[in-house]
Amino acid sequence: MPYTIKNICCLGAGYVGGPTMAMIAAKCPHIQVTVCDFNQARIDAWNSDDLPVYEPGLQEVVESARGKNLHFSTNIKPAIAAADLIFVCVGTPTKSYGIGAGRAADLRYIESAARLIAEVSTGNKIIVEKSTIPVKTANAIQSILTANSPADATFQVLSNPEFLAEGTAVADMENPDRILIGGEQNPEGQAALEALVSVYANWIPREKIITTNLWSSELSKLVANAFLAQRISSINSISALCEATGADVDEVALAIGSDSRIGSKFLKASVGFGGSCFQKDILNLVYLCESFKLPEAAAYWRSVVTMNDWQKSRFVEKIVRTLYNTVNGKRIAILGFAFKKDTNDTRESAAINIVRDLVAENAHVVIYDPRVDEESIHRDLLEVGVPQDIINFNIEIAPDPYTAATGAHALATLTEWDEFRTLDLPRIYDLMLKPAFIFDGRAVLPAGALKAQGFEAFVIGKGD
Ligand code: NAD
Ligand code: UDX
Repeated sequence: MPYTIKNICCLGAGYVGGPTMAMIAAKCPHIQVTVCDFNQARIDAWNSDDLPVYEPGLQEVVESARGKNLHFSTNIKPAIAAADLIFVCVGTPTKSYGIGAGRAADLRYIESAARLIAEVSTGNKIIVEKSTIPVKTANAIQSILTANSPADATFQVLSNPEFLAEGTAVADMENPDRILIGGEQNPEGQAALEALVSVYANWIPREKIITTNLWSSELSKLVANAFLAQRISSINSISALCEATGADVDEVALAIGSDSRIGSKFLKASVGFGGSCFQKDILNLVYLCESFKLPEAAAYWRSVVTMNDWQKSRFVEKIVRTLYNTVNGKRIAILGFAFKKDTNDTRESAAINIVRDLVAENAHVVIYDPRVDEESIHRDLLEVGVPQDIINFNIEIAPDPYTAATGAHALATLTEWDEFRTLDLPRIYDLMLKPAFIFDGRAVLPAGALKAQGFEAFVIGKGD
């Protein structure tokens, strides 16, 4: 049966739901789009000038459609009832309890979304999994929907994973490498799939829209993230070897990345990858491999996370050893707390573990980040076990890099914000205690200028 999409509802107004729906609304003025969430503060923020997600260019996209065909609401049930197509963009964090704790995806928000949809739906609806989920989740959704909905309701479940990266979400959605849609291999499934294709076809060339079966689509999302993260862990493992041998990891990355079979992207050595997706999705893949009795495949992918953990801990060790084996009572300036530049997101940021480990050594840590607020930093540190009194006494938030550097024994860059590339290094040098130690975990500072200025500089992946 052919579908006509005039009304879209999205469950989940987070980093994915908000931006992707804003883009669909902006590109499809003939479709009404309502983004729903239980979180009133989040919805209020989407309806304000101070959006809950910082992304370059996002404000403009939201403002172009908000109040016309883009709406943000906590009034979820009527929005579901009115929709022809419902995107599920709720969180799928790593499970922290019970079976599969620390590896499996926690699917409780997916299940609650499916139950809510079933409760208020009539007629034919297309349900689209945009959240990242384990393979076969579409089966679970279909079974909850069928068991809990009235007899006149029918559902087609599609998989349409999201590949946007934070910080570049607007550009990624405007011009994606591909759109992936998986559907059931029967006429009803294919009709639903074509309906979703027709939404994207409003701005994306048809040849960029890949259609597959449901399970290939669900699995491809986990695999894409695992491959990307694997490249970072690979180059980070080599960064340690470069430091030991005098090679330069950026030169090695350039040399190997010039081979078109390898390619140049995702070869930037760092203090460790962060973000809400990579670790969670690899652990999810590991759990899937274990569940299907593939322990060797599970161990292979687990090592990507192990390498990332090691990269973070060896950075802290480098700081402590270099500062004469003690940071007790020393002021350490941290530049950057977000997991990457151009976002206010700190989920799984390498900075969280690094600051936690520095205060465990009794350091006094002063943090500057242009987009992350004090409340988020305190919340993140509490979550990884830093006691409130330590946060009160040993964590300081600075309004700019120069305040952070004042009186510091050492300064470490943990996020590659562009503004760090043009820091006034002579001024920083004058403000710091001597020797003035710099630990550049992102290789963002001009290495030659650091040495010339008199800093004792360690740059990730660069031998002495
Ligand atoms: P998020 O935590 O920012 O947002 C999820 C939102 O869903 C929350 O605001 C929550 O209140 C809401 N929610 C939960 N249950 C709900 C329900 N039943 N009805 C309505 N709202 C509900 O998460 P996110 O970063 O947007 O990620 C969402 C999904 O997309 C995850 O599966 C994630 O793995 C995936 N993903 C994320 C990114 C990214 O860059 N953040 C990229 C690609 C895919
Ligand atoms: C990632 C995927 O890129 C995206 O396709 C998916 O939809 C969600 O997960 P995101 O986590 O937002 O996106 O950012 P990404 O640019 O992939 O960076 C992840 C982490 O890896 C960051 O901490 C970043 O600093 C780090 N990174 C990235 C490196 O350390 N080196 C690199 O070369 C690239």
